[in-house]
Amino acid sequence: KNIAVVYGGDSSEYVVSVQSGKNVYQSIDTNLFKPWMVEMKGQEWAVKVDGQKIADVDKSNFGFTFGGQTVKFDFAYIIIHGTPGEDGILQGYFDLLNVPYSTCGVHSSALTFNKFFCSNYLRNFGIPMAKSRRMLKGNSIDAEQLLAELNLPVFVKPNAGGSSFGVTKVKKADELAPAIEKAWIESDEALVEEFIEGKEFTCGLVKLKNETIIFPVTEVVPKNEFFDFEAKYTAGMTDEITPARISETLTADIQQLASKVYDLCNCRGIVRVDFILKDGIFYFLEVNTTPGMTATSFIPQQIAAMGRELKEMLTLIILDQIG
Ligand code: DAL
Ligand code: MG
Repeated sequence: KNIAVVYGGDSSEYVVSVQSGKNVYQSIDTNLFKPWMVEMKGQEWAVKVDGQKIADVDKSNFGFTFGGQTVKFDFAYIIIHGTPGEDGILQGYFDLLNVPYSTCGVHSSALTFNKFFCSNYLRNFGIPMAKSRRMLKGNSIDAEQLLAELNLPVFVKPNAGGSSFGVTKVKKADELAPAIEKAWIESDEALVEEFIEGKEFTCGLVKLKNETIIFPVTEVVPKNEFFDFEAKYTAGMTDEITPARISETLTADIQQLASKVYDLCNCRGIVRVDFILKDGIFYFLEVNTTPGMTATSFIPQQIAAMGRELKEMLTLIILDQIG
């Protein structure tokens, strides 16, 4: 079976996706599958071998022709962070062509990639989370009104984005408007969220047709002010401790919460749910339906901490769809 490892994409997270894509490609079991690197960037969808483009993808059937041979991909492992791989757009394309893929479907992807929609949806089910407000691009910013509703410090984030691009921790009122403008560079909507002073934890999981695998929890201790882009991707900038140094009860709490979020959002494939722990309560931050898969990302660490291999996990996910 030909497996397309679909990476790249059109957001600032392109650079992260390139690293995730490499790691996924190298972890696909070549005894069972034939993996291909497929880089998507705007309208350019290129099949690459050793970093060199060998063919354009034929978008009408998701295949390509090279050296007189036509290859049709049997499965897409989507490892684009951000648009169009994490927000449902690509999922819709693959659904239309009947190509099975690794992630959540159209609706789940679209819901979870919109922090405002997702948090309001989950709030209805009693999932604890910070108070937040959404600011649409182009609207005037009434900082005074916002700060009457939310207490400083606040986090300002692009409503649809990842890897902390465009995120600011705002401590003073006059920093709020510039932070919103900055978030608008990444997304048409900004989210202003009350800061919860606590410790950050993250839990990956995958639910296959006959098996649920909840990964060990990771404790995230950034050395920066918060877990920003630098802290995420610079060696030594964050202590990432798996399994987390928390009680069995708290571990069970966060794992159950992650599992509940997974079910409520109707997820598929490997998903990672992030939380802040304060006074014994886990507050939901976000769901990542295409979590980082670079060699040093949380999910590979969590899988290793279980004594299992990413290769095995990828095989399970692929066979769950096309076995
Ligand atoms: N958005 C990044 C890749 C993550 O959630 O891991
Ligand atoms: Mg994220």
